[in-house]
Amino acid sequence: MKEIPRWSEKDVTRTLPHRNQEGHKGSFGTALLIAGSAGMPGAAVLATYAAMRSGLGKLTVATSSESIVAISSFVPEATFETDLLDRINDSQLDFNQYSAVAVGPGLLPDYKTEAAIDRLLPEGKPMVLDAGALSPRSYDSAAAPVILTPHMGEFSRITGVSVEELQKGQAAYAADWANRLGVTIVLKGPGTVIAFPDGETFINPTGNSSLAKGGTGDTLTGMILGMLCCHDNWRHAVLNAVHIHGACADEWIRTRSPHSLLAHDLTELLPVVMNSFE
Ligand code: APR
Ligand code: MG
Repeated sequence: MKEIPRWSEKDVTRTLPHRNQEGHKGSFGTALLIAGSAGMPGAAVLATYAAMRSGLGKLTVATSSESIVAISSFVPEATFETDLLDRINDSQLDFNQYSAVAVGPGLLPDYKTEAAIDRLLPEGKPMVLDAGALSPRSYDSAAAPVILTPHMGEFSRITGVSVEELQKGQAAYAADWANRLGVTIVLKGPGTVIAFPDGETFINPTGNSSLAKGGTGDTLTGMILGMLCCHDNWRHAVLNAVHIHGACADEWIRTRSPHSLLAHDLTELLPVVMNSFE
């Protein structure tokens, strides 16, 4: 495989959109986040917080009633849909208002999560699938870009290839499966690989070991969702979110110990880090 290009700081500066002075919350897009369950409300809190700081206009979080208290006390700006997973095939549901959708943080990989993905794929909205939304499946019914954000273990789960084997050629495997499934694969870890379905592949140059802590993946999912809403080019949204997520971790370790980062600290640094690219 030829050398894989890096999505550099310059690329982010060139492609990160300026916020239109004439814009209103409607024009920056409404996102739908399906995340969080009774046992895992925190993942939804982290994804919500990151999404709301990443350029969108409005966010609806579809989550369990237990998670709503946790989310709204940390991010009072979010609005909610309750029990969406139980009503997902209700013919009254209308997803037209949404510009992008993310599914998975704090969800189990069960039949309810799969039913939601089946229902949403043909809706024609860019979709980010993470954590509980990552299972072996086909994406043939997708009517818009689908972005999978697995770590190695999840990549092994969706492909059926062992972690040991995948580690022999992470970028090649990501590119191969992106092509086979017709989706974008963000294969996370040191040197995250972003593989698009047409074969275009990048390596992310930012990030460090401070990110190796539970919750940072949920934060990334929120950032991608928010960026999809404010970018015209969905590929740039994905690449910029991954780059900036890592850049927040790099900013953290300039003055703080890499042992000490919490996932929500990334989102707290986001305003200053994003500003450095504008
Ligand atoms: N260097 C650079 N980046 C790293 C490193 C590292 N050494 N280690 C991790 N990262 C980055 C990854 O690239 C990714 O962006 O941190 C993030 C970790 O994301 P996940 O692995 O998805 O972790 P997270 O979801 O936050 O927490 C673990 O995932 O598998 C589920 O159920 C599991 O709840 C658990 C959760
Ligand atoms: Mg994760």
